[in-house]
Amino acid sequence: MAEPLSLAVPAPPKAALSWRAVLRVVRDNPLQLWTEEAYDSAIERQNFLGRPRLLLNAPEAIQHVLIGHAENYRRTAPSIRLLRPFVGRGLLLSEGELWRRQRRLIAPTLAPRALPSLMRHAAGATVAWRERLTPEIDLLAEMQTLALEIAGRSMFSLGMAPFATAMRALLTQSAQALSRPDFLDLVLPIWLPSPRDFARWRFQRRWMGLMTRVIAARERAPGARETPDLFDLLRAASAPDGKVGMRQLRDEVATMIIAGHETTALTLFWASLLLATAPAVQARIAEEARGLDLGPGGIAEALGRLEYTRAVVSEALRLYPPAATIVREAIAEDRCGDLVIPRGALVMIAPWVLHRHRQLWDAPERFDPERFLPGAPLIPRFAYLPFGAGPRVCVGAQFALAEATLVLATLVRDFVLERADAAPVFPVSVVTTQPNRPVSFLLSPRRGK
Ligand code: HEM
Repeated sequence: MAEPLSLAVPAPPKAALSWRAVLRVVRDNPLQLWTEEAYDSAIERQNFLGRPRLLLNAPEAIQHVLIGHAENYRRTAPSIRLLRPFVGRGLLLSEGELWRRQRRLIAPTLAPRALPSLMRHAAGATVAWRERLTPEIDLLAEMQTLALEIAGRSMFSLGMAPFATAMRALLTQSAQALSRPDFLDLVLPIWLPSPRDFARWRFQRRWMGLMTRVIAARERAPGARETPDLFDLLRAASAPDGKVGMRQLRDEVATMIIAGHETTALTLFWASLLLATAPAVQARIAEEARGLDLGPGGIAEALGRLEYTRAVVSEALRLYPPAATIVREAIAEDRCGDLVIPRGALVMIAPWVLHRHRQLWDAPERFDPERFLPGAPLIPRFAYLPFGAGPRVCVGAQFALAEATLVLATLVRDFVLERADAAPVFPVSVVTTQPNRPVSFLLSPRRGK
């Protein structure tokens, strides 16, 4: 039985925020953008500096925007500003024919059919990582190192150790500040640089320089593979001598590295935080994983038997969705039933709100993995969207779920997880949903494993 448990989260405002307060909250922690009422209502409509801003919780409206009329909705200027330094024109931000072509190339390499091979790499990296763990760890940092290694090995057949320190340093030192939008970042069109865009360009040059080094290392060490990996496919698709082709290759490598490790590491962090206060849930994971071969040879089969561990991952993604908000801008006026969506309106689908919505979930604040076990009451469609939906749904969703299940099972089977201190940990949305401070965990060997 899961223990009834809930962790503290930032309190929602009681009433709609003034425009000044919106600016502050968007910079400091957008999780506090939505009022108390948003967690009860179907649609929340507000204005921001004269521009309509809609939060959609109603399933038919979400379906309409993300799937039915997806072509009428594009990424917003602030989203592009914040994401472009990390991913350039890679899959996350590309549009039109370029996006369609690259999606067709990349999606099959992460599809369920490709999972056994991806997971063999992931299991190899996890076994080596588990051997290096010490009794007290900064859990998020450890998960980031592991998830980066898994991303490198599984998609590019390349160990990431030579790059990990420089990458993490760049991401933690520069990226945090650049990822908190200010007033001009929010209001200027994308073709007009905001003052902080200059710092973003400088960051992008350094980050992409690192990606060029990753590509050079991969070109020098092609290795022997039975089937081409994602890098081989991307490389073959980019014109060998064309500048554009090489830039696109670099941007896709950057996209897959950043999108492929940061969110999964955060999922594992939040799952561990929840587990640290739920020893009975840990015991049940350990019991489930006992005797299974979680190494490269056995992982494909073992995954099918880690049903409860996977439910814990799904529940962690519900309570702490790494992508807290999916934002779009309406290209033309649109209508969904009685709802009129004006041209230029900001349309938000917020997994953070949806996943804690009082009309969609029973006891939404409670950590209860059993919601995701077979036989549990059906989860309403569009109430649970950690990976988005529609044509731009996360291309790595199945891989991320399998990877997080493997890592959590390995960790909890071998160790009892406890927090080193009892101070609260608050989620803060800075592009992804992060803890407000580093959190140390104590690992003690689990008896009777
Ligand atoms: C738990 C982990 C993950 C979460 C919560 C997550 C979440 C998301 C979400 C919500 C989107 C859709 C954004 C939108 O519609 O605006 C997305 C897109 C994307 N994700 Fe993930 N993701 C995860 C893991 C991964 C992994 C492992 C990879 C790659 C290996 C990946 C690569 C991408 C890419 C490339 C896109 C853009 C797809 C497109 O626009 O066509 N993600 N992700």
